Amino acid sequence: MHGTLQSAEDARARAYSMPLEDIHVGDPNLFFSDSHWPYFERLRREDPVHYCRDSEFGAYWSVTKYNDIMGVETNHQVFSSDSSLGGITIRDSLPDYRRPSFISMDQPKHGPQRKTVAPMFTPTHLDQLAATIRERACLILDSLPRNETFNWVDKVSVELTTQMLATLFDFPWEERRKLTYWSDVATAVPGAGLVETIEEKQVIIEQAGAYFKKLWNDRVDQPPKPDLLSMMAHSEATRNMDEKNFLGNLFLLIIGGNDTTRNSISGAVYALNKFPDQYKKLKANPALIESFVPEVIRWQTPLSHMRRTALADAEIGGKQIKKGDKVVMWYVSGNRDEDVIEKANEFIIDRKRPRNHLSFGFGIHRCVGLRLAELQLKIVWEEILKRFDKIEVVEEPKRVYSSFIKGYESLPVRIAA
Ligand code: HEM
Repeated sequence: MHGTLQSAEDARARAYSMPLEDIHVGDPNLFFSDSHWPYFERLRREDPVHYCRDSEFGAYWSVTKYNDIMGVETNHQVFSSDSSLGGITIRDSLPDYRRPSFISMDQPKHGPQRKTVAPMFTPTHLDQLAATIRERACLILDSLPRNETFNWVDKVSVELTTQMLATLFDFPWEERRKLTYWSDVATAVPGAGLVETIEEKQVIIEQAGAYFKKLWNDRVDQPPKPDLLSMMAHSEATRNMDEKNFLGNLFLLIIGGNDTTRNSISGAVYALNKFPDQYKKLKANPALIESFVPEVIRWQTPLSHMRRTALADAEIGGKQIKKGDKVVMWYVSGNRDEDVIEKANEFIIDRKRPRNHLSFGFGIHRCVGLRLAELQLKIVWEEILKRFDKIEVVEEPKRVYSSFIKGYESLPVRIAA
């Protein structure tokens, strides 16, 4: 349905032969066909802060080098996340469908709302969650078929992250796949498979809102407890959110914890198959899981970018940005910047500074759930290494059609008996 798959050589030839000004790295087809790499490589070398004059997302700047991205991330006074200016992805949020959440707010509103949910992700609380995560991971892994090809994404990555989300919200257990469905709908591009139109998407999101409203009302009537809904229902900063802010924060927490972790769990299997020497290294020394986990998250870069809007004229890497311009920070490119990360295209599970990456962003919006994401990956790999000699990827994955969510629809694998 989408862009045709081309060989790596063809993609490279095309990326280097087209005029620089015609490059549009935000094209979802490039990500769907995994051919975005040479375009970013060329921009890092020849035009690190690049202007795309025209695209289906309008005009935008691409910031492609690690240090320039950090410069934008840490200057939130100038580079805004505000949803009323278009939001946090390359695709502008449409005014009628805007649902502000704290990821798409600037100070002073952002801080108090973030603080409300932060206690969920403290080391102490995560220690308490670890036993539950492990127990559930074991059940999922023990139920996997042997000597048979199956989709790792659905059977493991989706199931594990869905269970986690249901735990964070204390969501009705048997209905937990609703969370996955809502998250997928919320990030779906209309017409690309899951929903046909933006109106259809809106209806489903409102159904989710109505469902959550009931849960919310229950929490309001009960004493505070450590689930995300209860935390918001009892906090000064969030108890009186309007309808849109309520939906916005709900969907932020559902999506934030869902696709990203799911695609890291799948990305880990894929990366180890692409770099079999690293798979051997990990099996020989499971203690390397500590650095393997952040390396997976760097190598996968589950969110390709975040976007900001300039509140004033500014300079990035010698380029003049005008007030109102759309600025896209390409984490997927910064994470492959050889000036900062040695052998950046390689997957190396025992890097000296494995957390030196941009996948979680930086500055005031730096991922609030990052410790939970790492914990999930760590536990699942500890249990995988105890059980299976090898998880073998038997076919190339089918990728998500998006230049925001960088991940897999399916990853066919096989585990020997
Ligand atoms: C590997 C997994 C994950 C990745 C790669 C990831 C990535 C990100 C990124 C790039 C941002 C924005 C940073 C910025 O703008 O500078 C972010 C923010 C956020 N993430 Fe994550 N995330 C992951 C897992 C999670 C989990 C498990 C949760 C929670 C359940 C979560 C919840 C959030 C929230 C609530 C924000 C907004 C923070 C704010 O605006 O202050 N994320 N994440």
